[in-house]
Amino acid sequence: MRILISGCGYVGTSLGLLLASEGHTVFGLRRNTSALPPGIYSVEADLSTPLPVGTLPGDLDAVVHMTSPGGSTDEFYKTAYVDGPRNILSALAPHNVLRRFILVSSTGVYGQKDGGWVDEGSPAEPESASGRRLLEGESLVLGGPVSAVVLRLGGIYGPGRTGAIERALREQPREVDPARYTNRIHRDDCAGALRHLLLLRDPDPLYLGVDHEPAPRRAVAEWLASRPDLSRQSIEVPQLTAQADNNTRARTNKRCSNARLVASGYRFRYPTFREGFATLLDKTYAP
Ligand SMILES: NC(=O)c1ccc[n+]([C@@H]2O[C@H](COP(=O)([O-])OP(=O)(O)OC[C@H]3O[C@@H](n4cnc5c(N)ncnc54)[C@H](OP(=O)(O)O)[C@@H]3O)[C@@H](O)[C@H]2O)c1
Repeated sequence: MRILISGCGYVGTSLGLLLASEGHTVFGLRRNTSALPPGIYSVEADLSTPLPVGTLPGDLDAVVHMTSPGGSTDEFYKTAYVDGPRNILSALAPHNVLRRFILVSSTGVYGQKDGGWVDEGSPAEPESASGRRLLEGESLVLGGPVSAVVLRLGGIYGPGRTGAIERALREQPREVDPARYTNRIHRDDCAGALRHLLLLRDPDPLYLGVDHEPAPRRAVAEWLASRPDLSRQSIEVPQLTAQADNNTRARTNKRCSNARLVASGYRFRYPTFREGFATLLDKTYAP
C-alpha cells in the first residue's frame, strides 16, 4: 500500500517504520521533515493552510492523520483536528480514491468524572473547547466521502516519553482521593493498533486506543515504589498523604475500555503500565 502519515512525529515515525519494514511505501508529512528517518519519504507541508496543488503524492491507498496541536489555544486544536484533515482531503488528486482515512483523536472527548467505564458508545460531551474541536474533526472525517476510522488514544508513553513515570514519582498521591484513573497506551501499541486498523477488513468507525488497565495514580506510584531498581538508585517514591485534593472540579475521571479494539483482533504488546514501564525502567536504570 501507499500510505501517507500526516503529522509524522513520535507515533507516526514508529508506525511509518513498522509499515515500511513490511514493504509498504510510506510518506511522512510534517513542517520540519529533517527529523524523518530513512525509509519514510518526506512530504514537507504546513497543514494550517490549504496545500498547493501537487503537494501530496499520487495514488495513495490510505492516510493516517495525527498532527498534534502545538499549543493549548483553540486555534491550535482547530488546525490539528479540523483544518488539517480538511486540507489533506481537499489536496488529494480528484481521481485518488482512498481505501481508508484514519484520524487519531483522544479520550479527551469524554468529560465523565465519576470514575466509571466508558467505551465507544458512551456519551462524548467534553467541557473543554479542545475536546469539542476533537469531536468536530471526528465528525468531519466520519461524515465525509472517504471510508474513515477514528482511534481515540489515551495518554501516550514510551521511549523518551516518560512524563507519566516522572509525574508519579514527583507528585504526592493523596490518601483521601477518590481513585482517580489514568488511561494510557505505549507508543508501540499506538503504532501496532493503527497498523491493525489500516489492514482490518470492515472496521467499525470508532475505537478507543488504551491498554487493558486504567489505573489510579496511586496504584502507579505504589507499583513504582515496589521496583528494586528505583530503590537501588535512591530515587524517592512519594508517600501517601491525608491531604485532600482541592483541584478535582475540572478533572475528568474515567476508565476507558479497549474491548472493541481487542475484539477486532489487536493484541497488546504492553497490556498494562507494568510491562510498559518495566521496559522503560530497565533501559533507564539498568546497573
Ligand atoms: N500525547 C498524548 O498523550 C496524546 C493523547 C491522545 C492523543 N494524542 C494525539 O496522538 C497523535 C500523535 O501524537 P504524537 O505524540 O505522535 O505527536 P507528535 O510527536 O507531536 O507528532 C505530531 C507531528 O505533527 C506535525 N505537525 C504539527 N502541526 C503541523 C502542521 N500545522 N502541519 C504539518 N505537520 C504538523 C509535527 O511536526 P512539525 O512540527 O515538523 O510540523 C509533529 O511531528 C496526535 O494527534 C496527538 O494529538 C496524543
